[in-house]
Amino acid sequence: MPSSPAFETAILPYGAAAIAEAARLIAAGQCVAVPTETVYGLAADSTNGQAVAGIYAAKGRPGFNPLIVHVPDLAAAERLAVFDDEARALATTHWPGPLTLVLPAKPGSGIASLVTAGLDTIAIRCPAHPAMRDLLTAAGRPLAAPSANASGTISPTRAGHVLNSLGGRIPLIVDAGPTAVGLESTIVATGPLRLLRPGPIDLGLAPHAATSIEAPGQLASHYAPAKPLRLNATQADPDEWLIGFGAVAGDTTLSARGDLTEAAARLFDALHDADASPRDRIAIAPVPGTGLGLAINDRLKRAAACAQEGSRSLSA
Ligand code: TXA
Ligand code: MG
Repeated sequence: MPSSPAFETAILPYGAAAIAEAARLIAAGQCVAVPTETVYGLAADSTNGQAVAGIYAAKGRPGFNPLIVHVPDLAAAERLAVFDDEARALATTHWPGPLTLVLPAKPGSGIASLVTAGLDTIAIRCPAHPAMRDLLTAAGRPLAAPSANASGTISPTRAGHVLNSLGGRIPLIVDAGPTAVGLESTIVATGPLRLLRPGPIDLGLAPHAATSIEAPGQLASHYAPAKPLRLNATQADPDEWLIGFGAVAGDTTLSARGDLTEAAARLFDALHDADASPRDRIAIAPVPGTGLGLAINDRLKRAAACAQEGSRSLSA
């Protein structure tokens, strides 16, 4: 982590001027924050190793954790990875959209090795958000982009979240308001098909047993708020900020009408608000484990586990 701010972070509203400035910075080897339909991403030229290193530096991210490469279409993806029939069918059905495919990397594609962190596979996705799509067109090259937050903190669904987390460490945030989906993309690997990270697209797969090699991003710390988090709470203790769902009202709610899509879109906002609240701990109401609720509970379990680890190491 840099010890002092290296940048004055500009925030520009999404539009032609913002995209032109973002593309100029990308061409100059900088990284910029830009919204996707899932969360805000921190994008850099995936063919420029220095630029990719800038992403890891800004996030303070462990070097072993590989990044997702964003492309405008399937043709661009096929230049970077080997697609079998199953992968092609998934891309045709779900792209552009919040599905990431982990596939064998094509040697000689020009992608910096730092992007895949030494793996012989590559994670690729074709995003739907017009801001990221415009930037892909303007930059004219695939963009590596993890979520635009410091490593080990909550993914950003608003420009303000990015500013809080990475202000002073990146030159530009393109602001297109809150993201629609609010939850990072579903990640699958093919041959055989397996789910590496549950997300907005439900392919009916059970979560694959995580190994540190295949799915380093399943590390609990990726989704952690700064405060301890208690799950399945129906009432708050005096020092708890309660995030409600459905009949459990709470200090705030993921969805008063118990709607999982609304809950996913609000999840990270609610965690950010809870972290910023005057109470020392966070409690969250039960969320059903069906459909999008699977992905929501996955994030919540990781966040709670990490908070536990944090308090253990504090007391050790
Ligand atoms: O919705 C999203 O996917 C957002 C937006 C910005 O596109 N991006 C995102 O990126 O969530 P990030 O870096 O926070 O998560 C990327 C995940 C990590 O869990 C990483 O470990 C995994 O993808 N990943 C990347 N390459 C991989 C590979 N070759 N094999 C297995 N997992 C990989
Ligand atoms: Mg992330």
